[in-house]
Amino acid sequence: MPLHKSDLPLPLIRQGKVRDVYEAGPDQLLLVATDRVSAFDVIMREAVPHKGAVLTQLTAWWLRRLGGEVPHHMLSADIGEICEAIPALAPHRAELAGRAMLSRRAEVFPIECVIRGYLAGSAWKEYRKSGTLAGEPLPGSLRESSRLSPPLFSPATKAETGHDENITRRQAAAIVGAERIAELERLTRLVYERGSEHAASRGIIVADTKLEFGEVDGRVILVDEVLTPDSSRFWPADRYEEGAAPPSLDKQPLRDHLEREKNAGRWNGDAPPPPLPPDVIDSMSRRYLEIYQRLTGAPLPVAA
Ligand SMILES: Nc1ncnc2c1ncn2[C@@H]1O[C@H](COP(=O)(O)OP(=O)(O)OP(=O)(O)O)[C@@H](O)[C@H]1O
Ligand SMILES: [Mg+2]
Repeated sequence: MPLHKSDLPLPLIRQGKVRDVYEAGPDQLLLVATDRVSAFDVIMREAVPHKGAVLTQLTAWWLRRLGGEVPHHMLSADIGEICEAIPALAPHRAELAGRAMLSRRAEVFPIECVIRGYLAGSAWKEYRKSGTLAGEPLPGSLRESSRLSPPLFSPATKAETGHDENITRRQAAAIVGAERIAELERLTRLVYERGSEHAASRGIIVADTKLEFGEVDGRVILVDEVLTPDSSRFWPADRYEEGAAPPSLDKQPLRDHLEREKNAGRWNGDAPPPPLPPDVIDSMSRRYLEIYQRLTGAPLPVAA
């Protein structure tokens, strides 16, 4: 069953656009990726079947691959193990299967570690207007979706509401410290390099991605979600074209539908969103499952 909102017998400590986060002990969290979907910063009323499990299991898959090089927060993404560790969750096993991750609780650094291999999104918007990114000049000859080589480490502040704001490296260093930011940049580049290389071998371009890091006992670890469609811009490599915006592998049907509703005057772009037709939800669900299978080489276990 698709899940829009979880209700577990644990203290709920935050509800993001997609994840419900519970306390699972003094130094552990249970991250529950729901099937909520947002576009243009508005959360849709409908849930997308399998989306939460794709986000969690894809993150788990990448973390297992990266584990030798990048310390991370995952303790388990296996529902059997999780219910064994927290018996109170047993009655919720079916609804949590695939989507729950038991994690080490970290003190999260208050910046988003964004890395961009291609010029898109907010970076393209700023560049088009002023030739800069976070106020710093970029080469003058870039176009929409141009490749950035080497990739640009482009941290952002975490806005509680509204859009995250791109900041300079100097500003990021002022927030977390010069030594920390160097470590975060090194790890961000490493994850992006490993991720984009693998994705390329599966015909997917990782245009950019956002990582979060935290600290446990003085050590930096990778937290949150990793190289998922929600935290990354995935483009089909065969549709890539410099000077244009490639379609989004995951949310294009939703974006197209919402644009049509806006153009027809049926939606003003704010909450509440218009209702979504079943075929839009279906095609998104299929796309999330397909991304999982393309990247990992196997179908999502719970959906198989
Ligand atoms: N290991 C961890 N320790 C502490 N906090 C974590 C850990 N992993 C993830 N988090 C936090 O859990 C939250 C995940 O929620 P979610 O991704 O839904 O919301 P968000 O990223 O804050 O906002 P958005 O709705 O824009 O995604 C984030 O605030 C993230 O920083
Ligand atoms: Mg998030």
